[in-house]
Amino acid sequence: ELRGVVAMDGPSGTGKSTVARGLASALGAGYLDTGAMYRAVTLAVLRAGTDPADGAAVLRVAEGVDLGIGTDPADRAVTLGGEDVSAEIRGPQVTAAVSAVSAVAGVRDLLVARQRLVISETRARSGGIVVEGRDIGTVVAPDAPLKVYLTASADARAARRSAQDAREGRTSTVDATRADVERRDTFDSTRAVSPLRPAVDAIEVDTTDLGVEAVLERLLAVVRERG
Ligand code: C5P
Repeated sequence: ELRGVVAMDGPSGTGKSTVARGLASALGAGYLDTGAMYRAVTLAVLRAGTDPADGAAVLRVAEGVDLGIGTDPADRAVTLGGEDVSAEIRGPQVTAAVSAVSAVAGVRDLLVARQRLVISETRARSGGIVVEGRDIGTVVAPDAPLKVYLTASADARAARRSAQDAREGRTSTVDATRADVERRDTFDSTRAVSPLRPAVDAIEVDTTDLGVEAVLERLLAVVRERG
């Protein structure tokens, strides 16, 4: 059922989103940003005035959320109750709280079920879909024929995140971003449910010294090779 899926996992700042969208465009496939889903639920939690560390309360908010997520690689629209929150979910408040929210097992169950639904609907329409996140190859789509795990040095990841913040009009320093990136990765990698780790059959690509084009070229070669 989950054939035609490219699973793209790895920590933040590895170029994962840019590569995933580029690959989806090149393949004429759909694209699903699962991190955006965890971010949107986190925004709903913050707006409700709920403590992100209170798992039971967080789950209640998540169960009531009306989340909209697109699958067009050129249009990353995310909505809450019909309101476009695509920019707000990238802000510092959400970024600071998202790891706690995404560590709640019930929240993951809800979102993984929704992700599988989006994957099968998209596949019925356009055949393929590139899905990016932390647990796509291990949990969401363990049967995906192609699994990619992107890594990069902490310095490279912090520098990329800072540059992205600057481009998108958020102020940050490399040091603060580096601390944030490391805190979030440690939390994501050590949590009890679906920790961030490469699937045993994932192709690992270190993007520290590779540009987006080079990474894309390498992945497209793998896709061609595997037919
Ligand atoms: O990819 P992005 O940085 O937007 O993800 C935000 C956070 O959402 C991650 O730090 C992680 O805590 C969580 N996440 C997750 N599982 C996924 C995608 C994201 O736990 N599949």
